[in-house]
Amino acid sequence: MSKVTVVDHPLIQHKLTIVRDRLTNTKTFRENVNEIGSLVTYEITRDLQTKEIEIETPITKTKAKILAKDVVIVPILRAGLGMVDGIQNVIPTAKIGHVGMYRDEVTLKPTKYYAKFPKEIVDATVLIVDPMLATGNSAIAAIDEVKKTGAKDIRFVGLVGCPEGIKALQEAHDDVDIYIISIDEKLNEKGYIVPGLGDCGDRLFGTK
Ligand code: URA
Repeated sequence: MSKVTVVDHPLIQHKLTIVRDRLTNTKTFRENVNEIGSLVTYEITRDLQTKEIEIETPITKTKAKILAKDVVIVPILRAGLGMVDGIQNVIPTAKIGHVGMYRDEVTLKPTKYYAKFPKEIVDATVLIVDPMLATGNSAIAAIDEVKKTGAKDIRFVGLVGCPEGIKALQEAHDDVDIYIISIDEKLNEKGYIVPGLGDCGDRLFGTK
């Protein structure tokens, strides 16, 4: 079974409260989602492997460590975009892939309309990013797409999840560890997380 890590650092929880508040405006919402993206990345990448290379400091030659593997960030469109800059701020060498999903009106299943990945993804540590882990359907389908590339080291990164989404994701992809900053109470009948933060895409992009 995959590991679920709730990253409950006080700074992150403080920023999450700002993000949850319905009175928070679009600019502040976007800034805080990105800042959480940066902070949570420290936890997600804590166990990444490093390798030694030789460099020269202004004083002498020395051995020093760098990341052993590439990191590829894959936001699920559109809300996942809200965390990308924050994550990339702390991993500037990360490449970005994209997966776009829409919900088919008839089957209600998430359907891919766009997928583009950097070639490095096969051997990289892949961070699938979606702030909301609600039903888990989009995350499951996005990970299906990423796995088609041959990528194996995949982690899911979100802000707010719920027991239903976590269970679904763990059942579908038990090799994908989940990093989240809050496990909320439940999903409501409209598919929103309760208490949640509302529609993350709308709040990020001011579309409502
Ligand atoms: N997507 C959102 O943006 N918010 C939710 O609460 C659930 C899914």
